Amino acid sequence: MSVKKINEGIYYVGAVHWDRRLFDELIPLPDGTSYNAYIVQGKEKTALIDAVDPVTINQLFDNLKKLNINKIDYIISNHAEQDHSGGITYVLKKYPEAKVVTNEKCKSMLMDLLLIPDEKFIVIKEEEKLDLGGKTLQFFMIPWVHWPETMATYIIEDKIIFPCDFFGSHTATSAIFDQDHFYIPAKRYYAEIMSPFRNNVRNNLEKVKKLDIEIIAPSHGIIYKNPKLIMDAYAEWASDNVKNEAIIAYVSMHDSTKVMAEYLREALTERGIDVHYFNLTVTDAGELAMTLIDAATLVLGAPTVLAGIHPAGVYAAYLANALRPKTKFVSFITSYGWGEKASEVVKGMLTNFKAEVLEPVIVKGYPKEEDFKKLDSLADRILEKHKELKLL
Ligand code: FEO
Repeated sequence: MSVKKINEGIYYVGAVHWDRRLFDELIPLPDGTSYNAYIVQGKEKTALIDAVDPVTINQLFDNLKKLNINKIDYIISNHAEQDHSGGITYVLKKYPEAKVVTNEKCKSMLMDLLLIPDEKFIVIKEEEKLDLGGKTLQFFMIPWVHWPETMATYIIEDKIIFPCDFFGSHTATSAIFDQDHFYIPAKRYYAEIMSPFRNNVRNNLEKVKKLDIEIIAPSHGIIYKNPKLIMDAYAEWASDNVKNEAIIAYVSMHDSTKVMAEYLREALTERGIDVHYFNLTVTDAGELAMTLIDAATLVLGAPTVLAGIHPAGVYAAYLANALRPKTKFVSFITSYGWGEKASEVVKGMLTNFKAEVLEPVIVKGYPKEEDFKKLDSLADRILEKHKELKLL
Protein backbone atom coordinates (compact mmCIF):
# COMPACT_ATOMS: atom_id res chain seq x y z
CA MET A 1 0.00 0.00 0.00
CA SER A 2 1.08 3.56 -0.64
CA VAL A 3 2.38 6.15 1.81
CA LYS A 4 -0.19 7.74 4.14
CA LYS A 5 0.44 10.86 6.16
CA ILE A 6 -0.29 10.50 9.87
CA ASN A 7 0.95 13.92 11.03
CA GLU A 8 3.56 16.43 9.89
CA GLY A 9 6.77 14.41 9.34
CA ILE A 10 5.11 11.11 10.31
CA TYR A 11 4.07 8.65 7.63
CA TYR A 12 2.65 5.17 7.28
CA VAL A 13 5.07 3.25 5.05
CA GLY A 14 3.93 -0.31 5.78
CA ALA A 15 2.67 -3.21 3.71
CA VAL A 16 -0.71 -4.83 3.22
CA HIS A 17 -0.71 -8.59 2.84
CA TRP A 18 -4.03 -8.86 1.03
CA ASP A 19 -4.08 -12.59 0.36
CA ARG A 20 -2.40 -14.01 3.47
CA ARG A 21 -4.80 -16.55 4.94
CA LEU A 22 -2.83 -18.11 7.81
CA PHE A 23 -0.60 -16.65 10.50
CA ASP A 24 2.02 -18.71 12.34
CA GLU A 25 0.67 -21.60 10.23
CA LEU A 26 -2.15 -21.66 12.78
CA ILE A 27 -4.37 -18.59 12.92
CA PRO A 28 -6.89 -18.10 10.08
CA LEU A 29 -6.78 -14.64 8.48
CA PRO A 30 -10.12 -14.32 6.66
CA ASP A 31 -9.41 -10.65 5.92
CA GLY A 32 -5.64 -10.82 5.35
CA THR A 33 -3.40 -8.56 7.43
CA SER A 34 -1.05 -5.60 7.32
CA TYR A 35 2.38 -4.84 8.74
CA ASN A 36 2.28 -1.17 9.66
CA ALA A 37 5.66 0.55 9.63
CA TYR A 38 6.15 4.27 10.14
CA ILE A 39 8.70 6.92 9.21
CA VAL A 40 9.31 9.78 11.63
CA GLN A 41 11.32 12.69 10.27
CA GLY A 42 12.87 15.09 12.76
CA LYS A 43 14.96 18.12 11.81
CA GLU A 44 18.17 16.14 12.32
CA LYS A 45 17.36 12.44 12.28
CA THR A 46 14.99 9.99 10.67
CA ALA A 47 13.57 6.90 12.35
CA LEU A 48 11.70 3.91 10.99
CA ILE A 49 9.31 2.47 13.56
CA ASP A 50 9.10 -1.31 13.07
CA ALA A 51 9.59 -3.01 9.71
CA VAL A 52 7.44 -5.48 7.79
CA ASP A 53 7.25 -9.17 7.08
CA PRO A 54 10.11 -9.95 4.64
CA VAL A 55 7.72 -11.23 1.96
CA THR A 56 6.33 -7.69 1.67
CA ILE A 57 9.65 -5.83 1.94
CA ASN A 58 9.29 -4.30 -1.54
CA GLN A 59 6.15 -2.44 -0.44
CA LEU A 60 8.17 -0.84 2.37
CA PHE A 61 11.04 0.03 0.04
CA ASP A 62 8.65 1.50 -2.56
CA ASN A 63 7.15 3.72 0.13
CA LEU A 64 10.55 4.85 1.39
CA LYS A 65 11.44 5.74 -2.21
CA LYS A 66 8.25 7.77 -2.64
CA LEU A 67 9.24 9.79 0.43
CA ASN A 68 12.82 10.17 -0.83
CA ILE A 69 14.22 8.59 2.32
CA ASN A 70 17.92 8.35 1.53
CA LYS A 71 19.09 7.91 5.10
CA ILE A 72 17.60 6.13 8.10
CA ASP A 73 19.35 6.85 11.39
CA TYR A 74 17.31 4.61 13.65
CA ILE A 75 15.17 1.52 13.22
CA ILE A 76 12.95 1.27 16.27
CA SER A 77 12.09 -2.35 17.01
CA ASN A 78 9.12 -2.58 19.36
CA HIS A 79 8.79 -6.36 19.04
CA ALA A 80 11.08 -9.15 17.85
CA GLU A 81 8.48 -11.30 16.08
CA GLN A 82 9.43 -11.68 12.46
CA ASP A 83 6.27 -10.20 10.91
CA HIS A 84 7.73 -6.84 12.05
CA SER A 85 11.40 -7.51 12.66
CA GLY A 86 12.01 -9.80 9.68
CA GLY A 87 12.34 -6.82 7.35
CA ILE A 88 15.00 -5.17 9.56
CA THR A 89 17.87 -7.15 8.07
CA TYR A 90 16.83 -5.98 4.58
CA VAL A 91 16.57 -2.37 5.76
CA LEU A 92 20.03 -2.62 7.33
CA LYS A 93 21.44 -3.77 4.01
CA LYS A 94 19.87 -0.85 2.16
CA TYR A 95 20.58 1.71 4.90
CA PRO A 96 23.81 0.38 6.46
CA GLU A 97 24.32 3.45 8.67
CA ALA A 98 21.07 2.75 10.57
CA LYS A 99 21.15 1.55 14.18
CA VAL A 100 18.50 -0.70 15.69
CA VAL A 101 17.01 0.94 18.77
CA THR A 102 15.33 -1.39 21.23
CA ASN A 103 15.36 -2.73 24.79
CA GLU A 104 17.89 -5.25 26.07
CA LYS A 105 15.53 -8.23 25.88
CA CYS A 106 14.42 -7.44 22.35
CA LYS A 107 18.02 -6.94 21.28
CA SER A 108 18.92 -10.39 22.56
CA MET A 109 15.98 -11.92 20.70
CA LEU A 110 16.80 -10.08 17.47
CA MET A 111 20.37 -11.36 17.69
CA ASP A 112 19.06 -14.92 18.11
CA LEU A 113 16.29 -14.76 15.53
CA LEU A 114 17.81 -12.58 12.82
CA LEU A 115 21.54 -12.82 13.55
CA ILE A 116 21.87 -9.02 13.72
CA PRO A 117 25.36 -8.26 15.13
CA ASP A 118 25.81 -6.59 18.51
CA GLU A 119 27.36 -3.38 17.12
CA LYS A 120 24.17 -2.56 15.23
CA PHE A 121 22.17 -1.88 18.38
CA ILE A 122 21.43 1.06 20.62
CA VAL A 123 19.81 -0.22 23.82
CA ILE A 124 17.22 1.96 25.54
CA LYS A 125 15.54 1.67 28.92
CA GLU A 126 12.10 2.46 30.31
CA GLU A 127 11.03 6.07 29.58
CA GLU A 128 14.31 6.87 27.84
CA LYS A 129 14.03 9.54 25.14
CA LEU A 130 15.54 9.84 21.68
CA ASP A 131 15.49 13.30 20.09
CA LEU A 132 15.19 13.41 16.30
CA GLY A 133 15.01 17.22 16.25
CA GLY A 134 11.54 18.48 17.12
CA LYS A 135 10.29 14.91 17.39
CA THR A 136 11.09 13.18 20.65
CA LEU A 137 10.60 9.44 20.85
CA GLN A 138 10.02 7.99 24.30
CA PHE A 139 10.01 4.27 25.03
CA PHE A 140 7.71 2.40 27.40
CA MET A 141 8.00 -1.29 28.19
CA ILE A 142 4.69 -3.12 27.79
CA PRO A 143 5.84 -6.69 28.43
CA TRP A 144 3.89 -9.79 27.45
CA VAL A 145 1.60 -8.34 24.85
CA HIS A 146 2.34 -10.85 23.61
CA TRP A 147 6.07 -11.61 23.95
CA PRO A 148 8.26 -10.72 26.94
CA GLU A 149 10.19 -7.96 25.12
CA THR A 150 7.25 -5.93 23.76
CA MET A 151 7.47 -2.14 24.08
CA ALA A 152 5.74 0.97 22.77
CA THR A 153 7.21 4.10 21.21
CA TYR A 154 5.56 7.44 21.96
CA ILE A 155 6.15 10.74 20.16
CA ILE A 156 5.85 13.43 22.80
CA GLU A 157 5.17 16.41 20.50
CA ASP A 158 2.55 14.62 18.41
CA LYS A 159 0.96 12.54 21.20
CA ILE A 160 1.08 9.42 19.01
CA ILE A 161 1.82 5.99 20.41
CA PHE A 162 3.13 3.05 18.37
CA PRO A 163 2.40 -0.05 20.47
CA CYS A 164 3.14 -2.68 17.79
CA ASP A 165 0.82 -5.70 18.27
CA PHE A 166 -1.00 -4.16 21.26
CA PHE A 167 -4.36 -2.78 19.93
CA GLY A 168 -3.68 -4.40 16.55
CA SER A 169 -6.08 -6.12 14.17
CA HIS A 170 -5.54 -8.55 11.35
CA THR A 171 -7.22 -6.83 8.45
CA ALA A 172 -6.00 -5.96 4.98
CA THR A 173 -7.32 -2.54 4.07
CA SER A 174 -6.14 0.66 2.48
CA ALA A 175 -8.63 2.52 4.71
CA ILE A 176 -6.27 2.51 7.68
CA PHE A 177 -8.19 5.25 9.53
CA ASP A 178 -11.56 3.50 9.10
CA GLN A 179 -12.55 3.17 12.74
CA ASP A 180 -16.17 2.35 11.84
CA HIS A 181 -15.19 -1.26 11.19
CA PHE A 182 -12.61 -1.77 13.89
CA TYR A 183 -14.54 -3.90 16.35
CA ILE A 184 -14.65 -7.42 14.92
CA PRO A 185 -11.08 -7.56 13.49
CA ALA A 186 -9.71 -6.04 16.73
CA LYS A 187 -11.71 -8.41 18.91
CA ARG A 188 -10.62 -11.39 16.87
CA TYR A 189 -7.00 -10.25 17.13
CA TYR A 190 -7.33 -9.73 20.87
CA ALA A 191 -8.88 -13.19 21.23
CA GLU A 192 -6.19 -14.97 19.25
CA ILE A 193 -3.10 -13.07 20.36
CA MET A 194 -3.72 -11.15 23.58
CA SER A 195 -6.30 -13.09 25.59
CA PRO A 196 -3.83 -15.56 27.17
CA PHE A 197 -2.10 -12.48 28.67
CA ARG A 198 -5.18 -10.80 30.14
CA ASN A 199 -3.46 -9.60 33.32
CA ASN A 200 -0.58 -8.10 31.33
CA VAL A 201 -3.08 -6.48 28.99
CA ARG A 202 -4.79 -4.84 31.96
CA ASN A 203 -1.51 -3.62 33.48
CA ASN A 204 -0.23 -2.26 30.20
CA LEU A 205 -3.56 -0.64 29.43
CA GLU A 206 -3.38 1.27 32.72
CA LYS A 207 0.18 2.30 31.92
CA VAL A 208 -0.69 3.53 28.43
CA LYS A 209 -3.77 5.38 29.70
CA LYS A 210 -1.52 7.67 31.75
CA LEU A 211 -0.05 9.11 28.55
CA ASP A 212 -1.70 11.94 26.66
CA ILE A 213 -2.59 10.12 23.43
CA GLU A 214 -4.29 11.51 20.34
CA ILE A 215 -3.47 8.69 17.92
CA ILE A 216 -2.80 4.98 18.43
CA ALA A 217 -0.84 3.55 15.52
CA PRO A 218 -0.44 -0.22 15.95
CA SER A 219 1.58 -2.44 13.64
CA HIS A 220 -1.42 -4.35 12.29
CA GLY A 221 -4.66 -2.99 10.88
CA ILE A 222 -6.57 0.15 11.86
CA ILE A 223 -4.98 3.37 13.16
CA TYR A 224 -7.09 5.07 15.84
CA LYS A 225 -7.71 8.81 15.81
CA ASN A 226 -10.14 8.15 18.64
CA PRO A 227 -7.98 6.09 21.02
CA LYS A 228 -10.85 5.70 23.48
CA LEU A 229 -12.61 3.30 21.10
CA ILE A 230 -9.97 0.60 21.26
CA MET A 231 -8.93 1.32 24.85
CA ASP A 232 -12.50 0.90 26.10
CA ALA A 233 -12.87 -2.30 24.07
CA TYR A 234 -9.65 -3.70 25.57
CA ALA A 235 -10.78 -2.75 29.07
CA GLU A 236 -14.00 -4.72 28.56
CA TRP A 237 -12.38 -7.75 26.91
CA ALA A 238 -9.67 -7.99 29.56
CA SER A 239 -12.11 -7.52 32.45
CA ASP A 240 -13.58 -10.38 34.47
CA ASN A 241 -17.04 -9.70 32.99
CA VAL A 242 -18.85 -12.52 31.23
CA LYS A 243 -22.16 -12.53 29.38
CA ASN A 244 -25.25 -14.71 29.37
CA GLU A 245 -23.77 -16.81 26.59
CA ALA A 246 -22.89 -20.47 26.22
CA ILE A 247 -20.62 -22.00 23.64
CA ILE A 248 -21.37 -25.47 22.33
CA ALA A 249 -18.39 -26.72 20.34
CA TYR A 250 -18.86 -30.27 19.13
CA VAL A 251 -17.66 -32.94 16.77
CA SER A 252 -19.71 -36.01 15.91
CA MET A 253 -18.91 -39.20 14.00
CA HIS A 254 -22.30 -40.89 13.63
CA ASP A 255 -24.65 -38.10 14.78
CA SER A 256 -25.09 -39.22 18.42
CA THR A 257 -23.03 -36.33 19.83
CA LYS A 258 -24.56 -34.03 17.21
CA VAL A 259 -28.09 -34.87 18.34
CA MET A 260 -27.05 -34.15 21.93
CA ALA A 261 -25.46 -30.84 20.93
CA GLU A 262 -28.56 -29.81 18.99
CA TYR A 263 -30.84 -30.73 21.86
CA LEU A 264 -28.74 -28.79 24.37
CA ARG A 265 -28.57 -25.78 22.02
CA GLU A 266 -32.37 -25.60 21.89
CA ALA A 267 -32.74 -26.28 25.62
CA LEU A 268 -30.40 -23.39 26.46
CA THR A 269 -32.04 -21.08 23.95
CA GLU A 270 -35.48 -21.83 25.42
CA ARG A 271 -34.07 -20.87 28.82
CA GLY A 272 -32.99 -17.46 27.54
CA ILE A 273 -29.28 -18.18 27.11
CA ASP A 274 -27.55 -17.05 23.91
CA VAL A 275 -25.74 -19.96 22.27
CA HIS A 276 -22.69 -19.89 20.03
CA TYR A 277 -22.76 -23.19 18.18
CA PHE A 278 -19.71 -24.65 16.44
CA ASN A 279 -19.23 -27.84 14.46
CA LEU A 280 -15.52 -28.35 15.07
CA THR A 281 -14.92 -30.04 11.72
CA VAL A 282 -15.60 -26.75 9.91
CA THR A 283 -15.03 -24.15 12.63
CA ASP A 284 -12.73 -21.17 12.14
CA ALA A 285 -10.60 -21.23 15.29
CA GLY A 286 -10.63 -17.43 15.41
CA GLU A 287 -14.44 -17.35 15.62
CA LEU A 288 -14.37 -19.82 18.48
CA ALA A 289 -11.64 -17.81 20.23
CA MET A 290 -13.72 -14.63 19.96
CA THR A 291 -16.71 -16.18 21.70
CA LEU A 292 -14.44 -17.34 24.53
CA ILE A 293 -13.88 -13.68 25.46
CA ASP A 294 -17.46 -13.20 26.66
CA ALA A 295 -19.26 -16.49 27.17
CA ALA A 296 -19.93 -17.58 30.74
CA THR A 297 -20.15 -21.25 29.79
CA LEU A 298 -18.36 -23.66 27.48
CA VAL A 299 -19.76 -27.07 26.61
CA LEU A 300 -17.45 -29.25 24.60
CA GLY A 301 -18.94 -32.20 22.72
CA ALA A 302 -16.90 -35.06 21.30
CA PRO A 303 -17.32 -38.80 20.95
CA THR A 304 -15.04 -41.34 22.50
CA VAL A 305 -12.79 -42.83 19.84
CA LEU A 306 -9.74 -45.08 20.12
CA ALA A 307 -10.01 -45.04 23.92
CA GLY A 308 -9.85 -41.25 24.06
CA ILE A 309 -11.47 -38.12 22.71
CA HIS A 310 -11.97 -37.44 19.00
CA PRO A 311 -8.92 -35.46 17.74
CA ALA A 312 -11.05 -32.46 16.72
CA GLY A 313 -12.20 -32.30 20.34
CA VAL A 314 -8.58 -32.54 21.50
CA TYR A 315 -7.67 -29.60 19.29
CA ALA A 316 -10.56 -27.47 20.59
CA ALA A 317 -9.79 -28.33 24.21
CA TYR A 318 -6.09 -27.60 23.70
CA LEU A 319 -6.81 -24.29 21.99
CA ALA A 320 -9.38 -23.16 24.56
CA ASN A 321 -7.04 -24.11 27.40
CA ALA A 322 -4.11 -22.23 25.82
CA LEU A 323 -6.24 -19.08 25.50
CA ARG A 324 -6.87 -19.10 29.29
CA PRO A 325 -10.41 -17.75 28.95
CA LYS A 326 -12.40 -16.25 31.80
CA THR A 327 -15.17 -18.84 31.26
CA LYS A 328 -16.95 -19.53 34.56
CA PHE A 329 -18.56 -22.89 33.83
CA VAL A 330 -17.51 -25.79 31.70
CA SER A 331 -19.12 -29.10 30.81
CA PHE A 332 -18.79 -31.95 28.37
CA ILE A 333 -21.15 -34.12 26.36
CA THR A 334 -20.08 -37.37 24.76
CA SER A 335 -21.33 -40.57 23.20
CA TYR A 336 -19.36 -43.81 23.36
CA GLY A 337 -19.67 -47.32 22.00
CA TRP A 338 -18.18 -49.70 24.55
CA GLY A 339 -15.86 -47.78 26.87
CA GLU A 340 -15.92 -44.14 28.01
CA LYS A 341 -12.68 -42.22 28.58
CA ALA A 342 -13.34 -38.93 26.83
CA SER A 343 -14.75 -36.99 29.80
CA GLU A 344 -11.65 -37.70 31.92
CA VAL A 345 -9.34 -36.77 29.04
CA VAL A 346 -11.15 -33.44 28.57
CA LYS A 347 -11.06 -32.63 32.28
CA GLY A 348 -7.30 -33.24 32.27
CA MET A 349 -6.84 -30.92 29.31
CA LEU A 350 -8.60 -27.85 30.72
CA THR A 351 -6.09 -27.17 33.47
CA ASN A 352 -5.86 -23.42 32.76
CA PHE A 353 -9.59 -22.96 33.24
CA LYS A 354 -10.60 -21.50 36.56
CA ALA A 355 -14.12 -22.68 35.81
CA GLU A 356 -16.56 -24.77 37.79
CA VAL A 357 -17.06 -28.13 36.10
CA LEU A 358 -20.73 -28.98 35.62
CA GLU A 359 -21.53 -32.67 35.50
CA PRO A 360 -20.96 -34.03 31.97
CA VAL A 361 -23.61 -35.94 30.04
CA ILE A 362 -22.23 -39.31 28.98
CA VAL A 363 -24.32 -41.44 26.65
CA LYS A 364 -23.85 -45.00 25.45
CA GLY A 365 -24.67 -45.00 21.73
CA TYR A 366 -27.55 -42.91 20.45
CA PRO A 367 -29.23 -40.66 23.07
CA LYS A 368 -32.44 -41.98 24.60
CA GLU A 369 -35.23 -40.42 26.60
CA GLU A 370 -33.31 -40.53 29.88
CA ASP A 371 -30.30 -38.93 28.17
CA PHE A 372 -32.38 -36.00 26.93
CA LYS A 373 -33.55 -35.54 30.53
CA LYS A 374 -29.89 -35.33 31.57
CA LEU A 375 -29.31 -32.68 28.90
CA ASP A 376 -32.33 -30.76 30.24
CA SER A 377 -30.79 -30.99 33.71
CA LEU A 378 -27.48 -29.65 32.37
CA ALA A 379 -29.36 -26.75 30.71
CA ASP A 380 -31.18 -26.08 34.04
CA ARG A 381 -27.88 -26.11 35.89
CA ILE A 382 -26.29 -23.66 33.43
CA LEU A 383 -29.32 -21.36 33.76
CA GLU A 384 -29.11 -21.53 37.55
CA LYS A 385 -25.40 -20.67 37.45
CA HIS A 386 -25.96 -17.75 35.06
CA LYS A 387 -28.70 -16.46 37.35
CA GLU A 388 -26.36 -16.68 40.33
CA LEU A 389 -23.99 -14.37 38.43
CA LYS A 390 -26.95 -12.10 37.62
CA LEU A 391 -26.34 -12.50 33.89
CA LEU A 392 -30.06 -12.60 33.15
FE1 FEO B 1 2.58 -8.95 14.82
FE2 FEO B 1 3.68 -10.61 17.51
O1 FEO B 1 3.74 -9.96 15.80
